[in-house]
Amino acid sequence: MVRSIIVDTDPSPDDAVAFLMALGSPAELELLAVTTVGGNVPLHHTTRNALKALELVNRAADVPVYAGAAGPITRLLETAEYVHGATGFEGYDLPEPVARAADGFAPDRIVELVMSRPEKTVTLCCLAPLTNIALAMAREPRLAERLEGIVLMGGARSEGGNVTPAAEYNIYVDPEAATKVFAAGAPIVMIPLDCTHKALTRKDRLDLLRARGGPHMEAFYHLLEWNKRFDEKAWSMEGGPLHDPTVIAWLLKPELFGGRLVNVEISCDELTRGMTVVDWHSVTGRPKNALVLTEIDADGYFELVIERLHAARRD
Ligand code: RIB
Ligand code: CA
Repeated sequence: MVRSIIVDTDPSPDDAVAFLMALGSPAELELLAVTTVGGNVPLHHTTRNALKALELVNRAADVPVYAGAAGPITRLLETAEYVHGATGFEGYDLPEPVARAADGFAPDRIVELVMSRPEKTVTLCCLAPLTNIALAMAREPRLAERLEGIVLMGGARSEGGNVTPAAEYNIYVDPEAATKVFAAGAPIVMIPLDCTHKALTRKDRLDLLRARGGPHMEAFYHLLEWNKRFDEKAWSMEGGPLHDPTVIAWLLKPELFGGRLVNVEISCDELTRGMTVVDWHSVTGRPKNALVLTEIDADGYFELVIERLHAARRD
């Protein structure tokens, strides 16, 4: 059965690899739309980067891009140029996109796409701060129950944060939105730093990606090579975590992952803002609202990434 998905994203390269992988998997996934949000870089850059990535593989005509919220529901946007550079797509010059974002505000389009399809047939794939998702849920209170589910990259169990000691970026930026999403009742799969920090863009893996061939693989080799620099230095890692494609990989090959169904709550307090409080041992008795994936077969993951990213391009 082909699963229909919407990808909500703030493209830096890892985000773009994720939604292009989906396009490279037509037997399993139908990408209904890409929705953009302010995050890693401001909204005009994330939207431009989404269009650039789609044009790189000649697929801009196949999937609409809808721009969404410029920033969090109640807080000022905190971007991450210190990680991703000024535009979010550094390391390889891609031409200005010819395609434009489609008409409509992303939260409205998410509601329309989900509510116009049979119930439990659309999955939201969330690769960024959850502002668009929370706004969509506010517009349509029935949205959560209509969804097949939500798969999101975000949070941390015992790995600690990558923005503060407590918080991972996607949750940190808009903790109020994350609170709403985790309380909404839709089935959630959460892929935290505990998982993505085990999937590093090591040189051998980037070399394999490049060797697969094609102009888009060459481009992503350079984009990912540039993008790993901050993480390598900050975390003393060999490569950078390839965070967001784990969301698509879970849909394609769940056997690559391991985890546990547990309760997850979000802190909005100042000291622990954006912390995902993961009740791994169910000591609270709170409802188990998320399947938290902490284990990954990294080699199998990269093999899948390279295969489906390569397949995304139409010549
Ligand atoms: O913390 C990792 C997340 O922040 C990923 O989604 C990455 O793209 C950045 O947005
Ligand atoms: Ca992202």
